[in-house]
Amino acid sequence: MRIVRSVGEVRAALAPLRGGTVGLVPTMGAYHDGHLSLFRAARAECDTVVASLFVNPTQFLASEDFGAYPRDEAADATLAAESGVDLLYAPTVDEVYPAGFQTHVEVAGLAELLEGAHRPGHFRGVATVCLKLFNTIHPDRAYFGQKDAQQVAVVQRLVRDLDVGVEVVVVPTVRDATGLALSSRNAYLSPEEREVAAALGRALTAGASAWRAHPGDAAAASATARAVLAAEPRLTVDYAEVARFDSITVLAGAIRVGRTRLIDNVVLDEGDPPA
Ligand code: PAF
Repeated sequence: MRIVRSVGEVRAALAPLRGGTVGLVPTMGAYHDGHLSLFRAARAECDTVVASLFVNPTQFLASEDFGAYPRDEAADATLAAESGVDLLYAPTVDEVYPAGFQTHVEVAGLAELLEGAHRPGHFRGVATVCLKLFNTIHPDRAYFGQKDAQQVAVVQRLVRDLDVGVEVVVVPTVRDATGLALSSRNAYLSPEEREVAAALGRALTAGASAWRAHPGDAAAASATARAVLAAEPRLTVDYAEVARFDSITVLAGAIRVGRTRLIDNVVLDEGDPPA
């Protein structure tokens, strides 16, 4: 696996490989099995697999953990290479946002709900960096985790609205034995906090059962999930809500455990909403 750091280098590396399909896995590093499942999905479907490794400052609020976000490029490079990544694009902040940078991508509406309401400007940063990565790498397919359902919806909308010729592939959430969705931010949790955080997975599972018992009853699904979360006093709830993102309905939740904020969701329906 080769590591490249500039737009010019990544384009030059990919130029002779354009006869085959290119898959991109955009990441911020701190790899866990969730990332590895994205790499493996890309490896199975594409001739060349590119991973980007960039902790994107524009998607963090000033109050958030940009400085503390776990960074270990050497360990990530080993895991990426073992998972079949051919090219790791690990640019500097100046490469992605050179002096004078002033263009941003806004996905209105979709990006203002749930995460967008709690993290204003977050999806502007995500959409901007994803479009830059798409324009740099020109992948045939880009792989994203279902855990970030709203991010997926924002990227899908961006791709549709701006005619970006990329197929967005969504890979299922990977969970640990307690149902906790794998996330780079789980590294912040103490063993006790990890147990507390597992309530989110349980809450969403319970909410999904309520939805199956009463299809289309968003209030019942949300209330069931909130009741499970309310039983755990060591966490605070930002939201636990049914949301419809274009063609998918999810029950999504965000909680805080100590200083760590975690999100997760389960898919309730795909396709047209119930009549
Ligand atoms: O999901 C992430 O890790 C990031 O939001 C992404 C898609 C790599 C953009 O910085």
